[in-house]
Amino acid sequence: MVEEQTARLGETDEAIRSRIDELLAGMTPAEKAGQLIQYFYFRLPGDVENPALGLDVDTQPLMVEAALGRGEAGSLLFVTNPAEINRLQRLAVEGNRFGIPVLFGFDVIHGLRTIFPVPIAMAASWDPETIERGQAVAARESRAVGIHWAFAPMVDIARDPRWGRIIEGAGEDPFLGAVVAVAQVRGFQGEKIGAPERIIAGPKHFAGYGNALGGRDYDEVNLSDYELWNVYFPPFRAAIEAGAGNIMTAYMDLNGIPATGNRWLFRDVLRDTFGFQGFVVSDANAVRNLVTHEFAADLTDAGARAIGVSMDMEMAIADPAYAHLPEAVDSGAASQEAVDASVRRVLEAKIKMGLFDEPYFDEDRAREVLGDPAHRDVARTAAERAAVLLRNEGDVLPLDAASLGSIAVLGPLADSKRDTLGPWCFDFDLDETVTVLEGLRSKVGDAVKIDYAPGIRPAQRRFPSMFDMFGGNAPEDPENFDDDAELQRAADLAREADVAIVVAGEWQNMIGEAASRSSLELPGRQLELLQAVVETGTPVVLLVMNGRPLDLRWAAERVPAILDIWYPGTSGGSAAANLLFGDVSPGGKLPFTWPRTVGQVPMVYSHTLSHEPENQERRYWDEESTPLFPFGHGLSYGSFSYSNLTVDRDAIGPDEAVSVSVEVANNGDREADEVVQLYIHQRYGLSSRPVRELKGFQRISLGAGKSRTLQFGLGRAELSYWNAAARDWVLDASTFEVWVGGDSTAELTTTFQVNAG
Ligand code: NOJ
Repeated sequence: MVEEQTARLGETDEAIRSRIDELLAGMTPAEKAGQLIQYFYFRLPGDVENPALGLDVDTQPLMVEAALGRGEAGSLLFVTNPAEINRLQRLAVEGNRFGIPVLFGFDVIHGLRTIFPVPIAMAASWDPETIERGQAVAARESRAVGIHWAFAPMVDIARDPRWGRIIEGAGEDPFLGAVVAVAQVRGFQGEKIGAPERIIAGPKHFAGYGNALGGRDYDEVNLSDYELWNVYFPPFRAAIEAGAGNIMTAYMDLNGIPATGNRWLFRDVLRDTFGFQGFVVSDANAVRNLVTHEFAADLTDAGARAIGVSMDMEMAIADPAYAHLPEAVDSGAASQEAVDASVRRVLEAKIKMGLFDEPYFDEDRAREVLGDPAHRDVARTAAERAAVLLRNEGDVLPLDAASLGSIAVLGPLADSKRDTLGPWCFDFDLDETVTVLEGLRSKVGDAVKIDYAPGIRPAQRRFPSMFDMFGGNAPEDPENFDDDAELQRAADLAREADVAIVVAGEWQNMIGEAASRSSLELPGRQLELLQAVVETGTPVVLLVMNGRPLDLRWAAERVPAILDIWYPGTSGGSAAANLLFGDVSPGGKLPFTWPRTVGQVPMVYSHTLSHEPENQERRYWDEESTPLFPFGHGLSYGSFSYSNLTVDRDAIGPDEAVSVSVEVANNGDREADEVVQLYIHQRYGLSSRPVRELKGFQRISLGAGKSRTLQFGLGRAELSYWNAAARDWVLDASTFEVWVGGDSTAELTTTFQVNAG
C-alpha cells in the first residue's frame, strides 16, 4: 500500500489534468456544485439542542447521506470512526456516477488520539523539529482512521489574549509564526500531498481573525495594509510556500468586507501574489453567513460571490449556498469557468491523495496505529520541550526526590484528565491521559508521600460554549463540596508537606473558540487557594495550565517557582514530573508578551518608538506599562551567558547578507536548553521601524560548562518590510542594530550598515 502511494507521487500534472477534464466533461451542474460542498456529519446524543449551529440532530445525518447517494457532496467533516468513514465513503463512491470519493476533513489541531500540547505550547518550544514530529504523528493517526485533511495549522497572529483562540496559534510574532507554520505543514503533509501516512494541511483563517475587536471572538477586524503585510500575512505566505494544499477562510468582516467574500484577499493576495494553487474552504457556514453579515442578498447571491472570489468549497451544516450555484450560473451571476476551476482544484486534491484508486482503508490497521505507544513518547517529549519556566527564585526547582519526604499537590486542575488535554480535541482516550498528580505519583513511587486536595471547586463559565454540548467538556460542579473546609484541608496538607505544588489556570472550556474573556484573572477561587498555600510558609511551585497569559502579578512576586506547562496533552503529567525533578530542563520560551493585567492588552514587544521613549514604562498612571514577562522569556536549569557578538561585514549592499556570530555558554552545573534569539532594529528610513523584531532563533542544548558559537544570516528577506507609503516592499539604506540573547530584552548588541544599491 505504501509503495502504491509512493508511486502515485510521480503521477504527472498532465495525467491529473486530463483525468479531471474527462470528469468535468460529463458532470451535471448539480454534481459540480456537490463537489464544492462539505457537510458536517454529526452523530450527537439525541437530546442536544443547539440552535446556534442550526442543527437538527435527527435529520441532519440523513440529509447528508441522501446527498452522498445523489453524488452531491464533495467532502465530510467531523467523522472519526473508521468504520463510519468507510461506510460513508461507500455511499459516496456508489452514489456518484463517476465514483468520485469524498475527502474527509477534521479539526486535527493538536493530535487525534494522542493529544499533544496545545498549539501555543508547541510554539513555545521554539523547536520546528518537535512541532513537525508532533503533526506527523497526528497525520499518521488521522490517515489511519481515514481522515485526509486537517483544518490546521491555525496561523493567525494573536496579540490580544482576551481572544480565546490565541491558544490555537503561535502567538504574536510573524517570524516565529512563519517558522511554526512551515513546521506544521511539513509535519502534516510530508514531502508532498499524497505522501504515505500524511494528510493535507489547511492553514487558517485567511485573514486577520486574530485581531477581533475587543478580543471578542467573531467580531469585526480592522487592520491596515501595513499590519496585514508585515504581521498577519507572513505565516500564511510561509505555509503556502511550504506547499500547504488548502486554506480556510475566516468568519469575520475584514475592513468592512466579510473575509469569505473578500475579492482582494482571495484573488489579489492569495492567488495572484502568493500564487496559491490549492483549494480554499470556507469556515463553517461562512458562505451562508454572507447573508447574515448583510453582505449578500440571499443564498444564491452568497454562493455566486464566494465562488467569484475563488472560494472553492463551502463548509456547511445544512442548506448550503453552493447548492444554488447552478441557478447562479444560469442567471449569469456566477461564471461556469469559476465553478469549473473550483471543481478542478477539489478533484486534484482527491487524485493526489490517491482516493480514486483507494477510497477505503484497513480498519484493523487503524487500531494498530492509534495504539502505537511511540506516539505517547513523542507527545511527552513535546510537552517537556514546550514548558516555560517563568520564575525560579532560589533555585526551588528542580526538586530533589532524595531530600523530599512529602509533597502536597493542590488544585482541581492537578487531577483533571480532560483539562490536561486542553480544548479542540474530541477523539482522545482519557484512560491513557496522565494528570500531573498521576505523573508525580508514578515518578516517585513510594519514596515520597504525595497528598492531594482540590482545595476549591472548579470555576464555571457564565455563558456556556457550543463545545459544552459534547459530554464531559465543562468541568463538573461537585455536590456537597464544603468550600471553606476544602480550602482549609488544602492549606493543612501544604503546611505538613516539604513542598506544595499548586496547579492553577483556566479550565479548558474557558479557552479556545467561543472562549473570549474580559479578564485575565485566575478563574474561581484559585488565587485564594494559592495565597492560603503560600501563607503556610512551605515552598510553593505553581504549575500554570493555560493557553493565554493570565494575571499572575501576585504570584510573580510571592511564589518562588512558576512553571508554565500549558495544556500538556496525553502524556502531560509524566512530562511535568520529569521537568519538576530535573530529568529534563525546561527550555521553552514565551511566544507572546505576558501582560501584567488585562488593561494593558494588546501589548507587543515590537512596537515603534514614540516621541517620548524615556517614559515608555509609565504610559499608565496606575500600572507599569511593561510586561510581567517579556516576549521570548523562559528560564532553564542551566545558566546562559552571551559574548563575542560580531558581524562579518560592517556594511553591505541591498542584495548582500551579513553573517552574525555569537558565543553562548552554559555556566550552570546542569545540561540545559537555550533558545538563542536574534532581534534587529532599523534606525532610520522610509518608515519608523519597530524597536525590535525577531529575525532568527536556534534552540540548542549545552552541557554544564560548555559553550558554542552560533551563526545567523541577515539579508533582504529579514531586512525589508512592507511600506505603507510606497505600498510595496522596501529595503532601506540604514544602520541596523542587532541584539542576541535569551529573550526580547537581550542586551548584547552590535550594528551594521546597509548601503543604497
Ligand atoms: C469553526 C472554526 O472557526 C474552524 O477553525 C474549524 O475548523 C471549523 N469550525 C470546523 O470545525
